[in-house]
Amino acid sequence: MHVVEKITDLVSLLEEISTKKKVGLVPTMGALHQAHLSLIKASQQKCDITIATIFVNPKQFNKQADLDNYPKNIAKDIAMLESVHCDVLFCPTVIEMYPNKNDKDFNFGQIETLMEGEHRPGHFNGVAIVIERFFEIIKPDYAFFGEKDFQQLAIVKELVQQLNLPVQIIGCPTVREASGLAMSSRNERLTEDEKLAAANIYKALKFVSENKNNYSINELKASFIEEVNNNPHLKTEYFEIVDSKTLAPIVKWEDSKTPMAF
Ligand code: PAF
Repeated sequence: MHVVEKITDLVSLLEEISTKKKVGLVPTMGALHQAHLSLIKASQQKCDITIATIFVNPKQFNKQADLDNYPKNIAKDIAMLESVHCDVLFCPTVIEMYPNKNDKDFNFGQIETLMEGEHRPGHFNGVAIVIERFFEIIKPDYAFFGEKDFQQLAIVKELVQQLNLPVQIIGCPTVREASGLAMSSRNERLTEDEKLAAANIYKALKFVSENKNNYSINELKASFIEEVNNNPHLKTEYFEIVDSKTLAPIVKWEDSKTPMAF
């Protein structure tokens, strides 16, 4: 695997190895786990060359402590990427990615103001800035994102549509631990007890999706919040049932053909 830190080196490498080849991009912030590797594998199935990026993007963190405590283990990450034969790892510094200070201010409408957008102001603008930058540098044919961050996936699709970028965005299924806990780099910061508790979120979500025909939206929302909040390790920040295309919250099942819980 080629490990590259400088944009000029990456551009020369890609000129050398990717002519007439389909390039797949898997952007990550490192602290890799099996869900990241599933994105690499999805890229390898569609593309000739797969590029992973590891970059803890400061622009998408709205709390300094979250940025400071974001888990990092580059040696382990490189070994994991090599084990699945990833072709290139691009791991730039902040200065390399953002040599000038002017930030774009995107407008994604309600998909950036609801749910995560409401609770993490500026987060999706920061995600859009870094993803546009990666697209500009790497010019991938495809880019792969986990459906775990469904709102992020919607933002990236909207970014591509608004800027008319020649890249296809592929959403890949959430990968879970045997307990049902969705794999996430931030899980490294949880104790074993907290991980067990967090697995209950999936159980409560499953109850909602399996009982759509038995209860109203308000009843299921109330039961989800009660179930989760009954656990001393957990506290619901928000819980919404939304239309999976617009991400707008719905109040009755007839409001959406494709409802999903958040
Ligand atoms: O999902 C993530 O890990 C990050 O938000 C991403 C897409 C790599 C952008 O920094």
